[in-house]
Amino acid sequence: MKLILLGPPGAGKGTQAKRLEDRYGILQLSTGDMLRAEVAAGSPVGQEAKAVMQAGQLVSDDILVRMLASRLEKPDVAHGFILDGFPRTVPQAVALDKMLAERGVKLDAVIELKVDDSALVDRIAGRFTCAKCGNGYHDSFKPTAKPGVCDVCGATEFTRRADDNRETVAARLVAYHAQTAPIIPHYAATGILRTVDGMADINEVSRQIDAALAG
Ligand code: AP5
Ligand code: MG
Ligand code: ZN
Repeated sequence: MKLILLGPPGAGKGTQAKRLEDRYGILQLSTGDMLRAEVAAGSPVGQEAKAVMQAGQLVSDDILVRMLASRLEKPDVAHGFILDGFPRTVPQAVALDKMLAERGVKLDAVIELKVDDSALVDRIAGRFTCAKCGNGYHDSFKPTAKPGVCDVCGATEFTRRADDNRETVAARLVAYHAQTAPIIPHYAATGILRTVDGMADINEVSRQIDAALAG
């Protein structure tokens, strides 16, 4: 199964991608996570991306296309993948079409998570992640079962993203509407676009995605 998860910042792409990984045995490829790893490593790409990400803007198409092309070379994607956060511009979507065609790979579906802008800031402002295993939580919508302890691995250290403040989220939303939303018609035209109600609770969104993939 080869999927794209599409939606604004905080729509639940990462949350749903993790569930799809377990359910279908396919791999989440998050370009945001890849960039954050480059920033943490202090690589040349990371140094270039850091300020852009903190400002809530998009890193250059050039860097992203190269990053994804080399990731698709690894054998672990053979069973399938979920693209989370890529493509994010029309040129990236066009480059992806070419990359997949060259590899003889066909996308099964593009799943759009539709969420009102007003809900996104609260979702992002409350988000935190286990520092050890990376499991994601939310202060009000998805707290840990035991306060301060990761449900999955029992660790007690958590992190919050540098770009998860209200000002940066506003800029990320502007970038989404101006640069990313225009790729929706690109996929609608190919007949593989499936739109899901991302305002529903996390389990209901998963159910809707499963139904969309089965139908
Ligand atoms: P990226 O890491 O992709 O961030 P994003 O698109 O802004 O999306 P988020 O990760 O913030 O949200 P999400 O949809 O994954 O939501 P989540 O599941 O965590 O990109 C970061 C930056 O990197 C970009 O700004 C850009 O600078 C750069 N970048 C990355 N890719 C790029 C590209 N291709 N080109 C150029 N630049 C690129 O959920 C959010 C919270 O809500 C969580 O706390 C969760 O528990 C909760 N939640 C989830 N679902 C629900 C629900 N249904 N109801 C209630 N709460 C929910
Ligand atoms: Mg994410
Ligand atoms: Zn953990």
